[in-house]
Amino acid sequence: MPERAIGIFDSGVGGLTVLKEMMRLLPGEELVYLGDTARVPYGTKSPRTVLRYALEAAAFLSERHVKMLVVACNTASSVALPALAEHFNLPVVGVIEPGARKAVAVTRCRKVGVIGTEGTIKSGAYPRAIHALDPDIEVFSAPCPLFVPLAEEGWAEHRIAHLAAEEYLAPLLQRGIDTLVLGCTHYPLLKTTLRNVMGDGVELVDSAEETALMVAGPLRERDLFRRSHPAWPRFFVTDVPTRFERVGGSFLGTPLHGVESVDLDGAVVPATRAEFSLR
Ligand code: DGL
Repeated sequence: MPERAIGIFDSGVGGLTVLKEMMRLLPGEELVYLGDTARVPYGTKSPRTVLRYALEAAAFLSERHVKMLVVACNTASSVALPALAEHFNLPVVGVIEPGARKAVAVTRCRKVGVIGTEGTIKSGAYPRAIHALDPDIEVFSAPCPLFVPLAEEGWAEHRIAHLAAEEYLAPLLQRGIDTLVLGCTHYPLLKTTLRNVMGDGVELVDSAEETALMVAGPLRERDLFRRSHPAWPRFFVTDVPTRFERVGGSFLGTPLHGVESVDLDGAVVPATRAEFSLR
């Protein structure tokens, strides 16, 4: 079991921010990444659809005999974690709880801002996770849909990104937050812009980094740390790999090649005792 890979999935290229942190913080682990590029974005889709996509992505990775599932996508994490844990007999780690924990640990004025896709913000997953840890913290949320295409366009530090950040974040700044959770895979790329707009008084919480740190927990508890030398991660996408290789290379900071194109149609989601209904 320890020699098996860790499976990571995202709606597309954004989850590479999580993979990158995992490569840095867990250099001994072998990683298999799936980007559902044929169906991206998840952030504008209904919870029911995102749940179905997440189950199919997890089924694909589970058929590759991974020892753990990491849901790098915030939108998928915000709606699918209980169902994934129910269907797959594997430890499942999402990005919401690690980000929430860090935010609770660092806020001093107990006012936290959360930004993410429309789906993540509508789900209320971050405020729920923060309030489960500390019900007295005030949470203010804002969807920032333009940040995803700006990051993919390579415009994370462009003046257009700065203008968009000023518009999106003004209401959060007015609330006097001292902590901002970057609740979307792409937002770590905008850190410089966000720091410029928010100022030094606001701590930025990078869910990608916190998730990589949290993955170590179940590996340690179950004695699942890999003992032999890992290979370079394997990358799968559901569309042709061209764009993923180009944009992903800039996200990872290293050229990406050998990305394999797959079809999730054949992936079988194991049956479960419970049915998950989502409005
Ligand atoms: N990966 C998504 C997330 O973190 C952003 C891109 C999308 O909307 O699919 O929420």
